[in-house]
Amino acid sequence: MDKVLIWDLPTRFFHWLLVLSLFAQYVTAEWLDNAIEWHFYIGYFTLFLIVFRVLWGLVGTQHAKFSSFVKGPKAVFQYAKTLFRRDTPPSLGHNPLGGWFVIVMLALVAVQAVSGLFMTDDVFLDGPYRQLASEDVLEWMNTIHHLAFDVLLYVIGLHILAISFYGVYKKQNLVQPMIDGGKETRDLGIFHSRVRLALIVAIIAAVLVYVAIEVYPPTPDA
Ligand code: HEM
Ligand code: HEM
Repeated sequence: MDKVLIWDLPTRFFHWLLVLSLFAQYVTAEWLDNAIEWHFYIGYFTLFLIVFRVLWGLVGTQHAKFSSFVKGPKAVFQYAKTLFRRDTPPSLGHNPLGGWFVIVMLALVAVQAVSGLFMTDDVFLDGPYRQLASEDVLEWMNTIHHLAFDVLLYVIGLHILAISFYGVYKKQNLVQPMIDGGKETRDLGIFHSRVRLALIVAIIAAVLVYVAIEVYPPTPDA
């Protein structure tokens, strides 16, 4: 068996930057006083990461594409039946069950970031969409912003538990490939990471987020 490239560099970068950003969001909201400005900026960056990953899921390399890991109920059910077997070969990319888990995580982070745009620190700073919404919507967004993070913490816990289960029970190390991109397999991997395409996608994602938070919202006194 050869070690071949499975996770392109942009997907790996995305993953570890997402981990760092969510940690920073927790710290700036819960631990530090006077760090709400940083919370806003890192929140916008997290939104950028999600937009990037969605676009990369459409045009990126083989295993990063949604079309390769978002499977129908039949495949998910069939995979789930083999979950506790130790003799099944490792999946090349995300397995059919894990693929849906990825979608849930991305969606939750997106909800968290978007609801943040409607938040206020009650002192100095309003999220850019605060002026656009009615009191009812603002109330909802506030509830969602608090609730989604609690749900996200459970989901992240499950994610890490699932990866430990693969490591300990199924003897499949999934973490190393998320770091160096490679997996031991008889199948073909991807040939390169398409970093130049990823840079173009990142610029598009950055412009979209800039327009969404700087250009589109009305100024507070408009
Ligand atoms: C804030 C915490 C975390 C979040 C939100 C998160 C989120 C995600 C997401 C969205 C993916 C899909 C990657 C993609 O296709 O773009 C993923 C995959 C993965 N994550 Fe995490 N992750 C977190 C923490 C961790 C940690 C601490 C580890 C290491 C122990 C880890 C290991 C992995 C691995 C190995 C995969 C690939 C799974 C597979 O082979 O299918 N993650 N994670
Ligand atoms: C994915 C990105 C984000 C994460 C993970 C996140 C996480 C959190 C967490 C954990 C809290 C504390 C909630 C509590 O006390 O129960 C919080 C509060 C808050 N967040 Fe976020 N947030 C994100 C994005 C944003 C964005 C983009 C904005 C604004 C543009 C924002 C604005 C706020 C504000 C104003 C508060 C209230 C702080 C206070 O109590 O004074 N967040 N966020």
